[in-house]
Amino acid sequence: MRSLPTPNVTPLRGGPVLRWGVLAPGEIANDFVTTLHGNTDQRVHGVASRSAERAAAFAAKHGIPRHYDSYEQLVADPGIDVVYVAAPHSEHRRLALLAIAAGKHVLIEKPMALNAAEATDIAEAARAAGVFAMEAMWSRYLPQSSVIGQLLDDGAFGDVRLVTVSLGWPAVFNAAHRMFDPALGGGAMLDAGVYSLWFARFVLGAPRSVQAAGILAPTGVESQAVATLDYASGAQAAVSTSVLTSTPGLPTINGTDGVLTFTKHFVFPASFVVTSGSEELAWADDSGLVGRGGLCWQATALAQYVNDGLTESPLHDLDESIGLASTIDEVRTQVGAL
Ligand SMILES: NC(=O)c1ccc[n+]([C@@H]2O[C@H](COP(=O)([O-])OP(=O)(O)OC[C@H]3O[C@@H](n4cnc5c(N)ncnc54)[C@H](OP(=O)(O)O)[C@@H]3O)[C@@H](O)[C@H]2O)c1
Repeated sequence: MRSLPTPNVTPLRGGPVLRWGVLAPGEIANDFVTTLHGNTDQRVHGVASRSAERAAAFAAKHGIPRHYDSYEQLVADPGIDVVYVAAPHSEHRRLALLAIAAGKHVLIEKPMALNAAEATDIAEAARAAGVFAMEAMWSRYLPQSSVIGQLLDDGAFGDVRLVTVSLGWPAVFNAAHRMFDPALGGGAMLDAGVYSLWFARFVLGAPRSVQAAGILAPTGVESQAVATLDYASGAQAAVSTSVLTSTPGLPTINGTDGVLTFTKHFVFPASFVVTSGSEELAWADDSGLVGRGGLCWQATALAQYVNDGLTESPLHDLDESIGLASTIDEVRTQVGAL
């Protein structure tokens, strides 16, 4: 290997533009709209909150022409093409189904739903309605994932034997917060671990078996989990997640012919090194986007897919989201989480 592949990603500007609607203007909705408006041609035409004041404030902050105090009003707006669901996990299924029933395309924050059964309900509804639906697994749409995907397709690592991935950030325990409240879909796996399990799945596909252990928070959701995944190929993945402590977020892909090591956090626009024998090649995101600024790549990809007549993402389709949710279910069951 003399050089690394060039990212093959949908350009942030100049492509098809959709009219977006935002349901649930919380923390991530704010970051998503900031980078959408700042770095792409996509535009948000409406925002809906359970509170008229919050909807109006979010609209004013982001220059959004319409705001609603009910989610139902936004999905009924004929001036909106695609709905972004940015509510806590417990609300994803209900709000995705609301948007789909109104004939809207939908981008659903990660994880797509509380469990595989709910994710299946969303997939079935979207397929029956013929609308586009996608889990906001935004790291899959970053340039680095395009490069790594091409390396995997080319067999650049030989046989991949092991993937290691860990993701955690410390959260102060608060029984009422969505991170810890079982009624809101709390738990480290649903919030952070979904990225770790996605990364292992991106590299190795669906696991054959899962062994997991964890630590429960006082509310009964998992605050930490460690899982070993086995694959039909003979490979393994060591996956962990925590809201008790931070981890550097630097996965490795370990093959018979090469090793990839992230040198910047894999969830965000990142960098990595590929070593093969004495050869070492480094790659770094040069988009200028940092951290959650990278959330916009998934949106331009979605707009292109809709324009192309697709109803699912070719990079992370609904069966992938259901499979990912199944593995989360398995881990959470073994850990004994509520
Ligand atoms: N991609 C990323 O990097 C990233 C980062 C953080 C979070 N997330 C994901 O984004 C989603 C939302 O997380 P967040 O941190 O933005 O949450 P948040 O700040 O708590 O905002 C969620 C919003 O959902 C609405 N909501 C609807 N039903 C609710 C309920 N029963 N309880 C509380 N709020 C409710 C609220 O808005 P109104 O009441 O105003 O309608 C609230 O502001 C989750 O799926 C999370 O995993 C993704």
